[in-house]
Amino acid sequence: RDISLIGVPLQLGADRAGVELGPHALRTSNIQQRLEYLGHRVHDTGDIHVNRLDPCAPGEKLKYLAEIARVNAELAQRVAAEMRRGHFPLVIGGDHSVAIGTIKGVLQHVNRLGVIWFDAHPDVNTEETTGSGNIHGMSLAVMLGYGHKSLISIGGEQAKINPRNVVIIGARSIDPGERIFLREQGIRVFTMHEIDKYGMRAVMDEAMERVTDGTDGVHLSLDLDGMDPQEAPGVGTPVSGGITYRESHYAMETLYESGALVSAEIVEVNPMLDIGNKTARAAVELAGSVFGERIL
Ligand code: ARG
Ligand code: MN
Ligand code: MN
Ligand code: MN
Repeated sequence: RDISLIGVPLQLGADRAGVELGPHALRTSNIQQRLEYLGHRVHDTGDIHVNRLDPCAPGEKLKYLAEIARVNAELAQRVAAEMRRGHFPLVIGGDHSVAIGTIKGVLQHVNRLGVIWFDAHPDVNTEETTGSGNIHGMSLAVMLGYGHKSLISIGGEQAKINPRNVVIIGARSIDPGERIFLREQGIRVFTMHEIDKYGMRAVMDEAMERVTDGTDGVHLSLDLDGMDPQEAPGVGTPVSGGITYRESHYAMETLYESGALVSAEIVEVNPMLDIGNKTARAAVELAGSVFGERIL
């Protein structure tokens, strides 16, 4: 398979220094070589340019909106262009607001898209519910059609995902407004409680059924803070009690086996907060499992 790497050194959605170094950390941890070793052709298309900005006003409810919208609009075009030439877009962030550009781009080619949102957070805040004003906590809401016009209009307002075909895996930090949103939308959330209770195998069985039911492809949105901070300490918003290393790999292996994956992004790796490059390494190892790496 042809895989196109697209780096997005964006930090504005998290408003915390370090996550803009994520693409560099994944490259120096040999993401390209790892995927090539599996037999793929990997095309590194470089980074999307992100402007440096002065700190925004305190209390802002959509921090750095204009630049985040601009970067994601460009990302959507880049993703769509790579898919047009038959390549699998693999976006490396950057904060989780880059999911907006990735998914909007994919939706230019895949009408009915299922989404696996691997994350400690559901990222379904809006301008009305956000406490932080950080847009990385809003990207899934945007993909469902809720959020600022300048974000939902990227790639056209009709480019969105059906809540029936979205699953969140690993959630354990949900804001009050998000809880209401998730219930209203009827989104299937596999919290850590469900993973403890049923095991990752049963969770993935149901998850794959949901995201493939009536869809033409599946997108993986992999936020490294979904993993336990012991395995992935280099993230901006760590939450204890997360998914283990093996459970994470099992989930990625299942995705590969389904053959349904059409696009992916790996986000929130923050090398400045990492311990000895552990998180970037884990991210690259997970990418290996997503693209067919097996122990034996
Ligand atoms: N819910 C919190 C917020 O809205 C945290 C979001 C963290 N998101 C992430 N992609 N790491 O700010
Ligand atoms: Mn090619
Ligand atoms: Mn996230
Ligand atoms: Mn998260």
